Amino acid sequence: MLISCQKLQKHYMVDSQPVLAADDINLDISENDFLTILGHSGSGKTTLLSLIGGLTMPDRGNILIRGKDVWAGSDTEISRVRNETIGFIFQFASLIPTLTVHENLLLPLSFGRTRRGGSEKADALLEEVGIADKRNCFPAELSGGQQRRVAIGRAFMNDPQIVLADEPTGDLDETTENEIMEFFYRRHEQGATFVIVTHNSQLASGHKALRVLNMKNGRLRER
Ligand SMILES: Nc1ncnc2c1ncn2[C@@H]1O[C@H](COP(=O)(O)OP(=O)(O)O)[C@@H](O)[C@H]1O
Ligand SMILES: [Mg+2]
Repeated sequence: MLISCQKLQKHYMVDSQPVLAADDINLDISENDFLTILGHSGSGKTTLLSLIGGLTMPDRGNILIRGKDVWAGSDTEISRVRNETIGFIFQFASLIPTLTVHENLLLPLSFGRTRRGGSEKADALLEEVGIADKRNCFPAELSGGQQRRVAIGRAFMNDPQIVLADEPTGDLDETTENEIMEFFYRRHEQGATFVIVTHNSQLASGHKALRVLNMKNGRLRER
């Protein structure tokens, strides 16, 4: 199994009351899955994605990536697994404002191994997500949708085996949404595994929505 979530629980304290954002989550994700998780705002989608990706530590339960407990290793090991295996597309495009579009794409490389051909790769990805003409712009000069395309391109710089996407087409028009989904489908055909969380039922009806789960009040259910 590529990713195995076992009895995951995560709560937040809100006004000194516990809110169960992830409630006994059991989820197996196989190599090359294309999984869509559908749920209303506040249902726990972002929490689940950051648990899967090792960004949030669960109160209880385990996350295994290829059989290895993500939280059993050292911090450096967790970061390494994250950086080398997982591409995150965050709900809110988290670009560095003082770097250009092109420089933002190079950023994931500077954390890990430096790699030859990084600059060309960044340009190819910008082309693929349809934002090559904004290469030398700063994030503030882009629309929300354009920033999102940059963040999507950036998530693929390290050739992630697993792509975790949080409302990836949140502020995109329908044409752009389709372009981005086609880009995901191509990467899926090349072997990447996708977990997409969204409130948009449209995304759960595409021809690649092979497996769709529902999330409600921190719980995951088959449809
Ligand atoms: N950092 C946080 N502090 C307190 N409560 C949080 C925090 N993050 C999420 N929550 C709460 O946890 C629940 C699930 O949130 P979230 O995972 O963001 O859901 P979704 O992504 O589906 O909108 C919500 O009730 C939300 O208010
Ligand atoms: Mg969310």
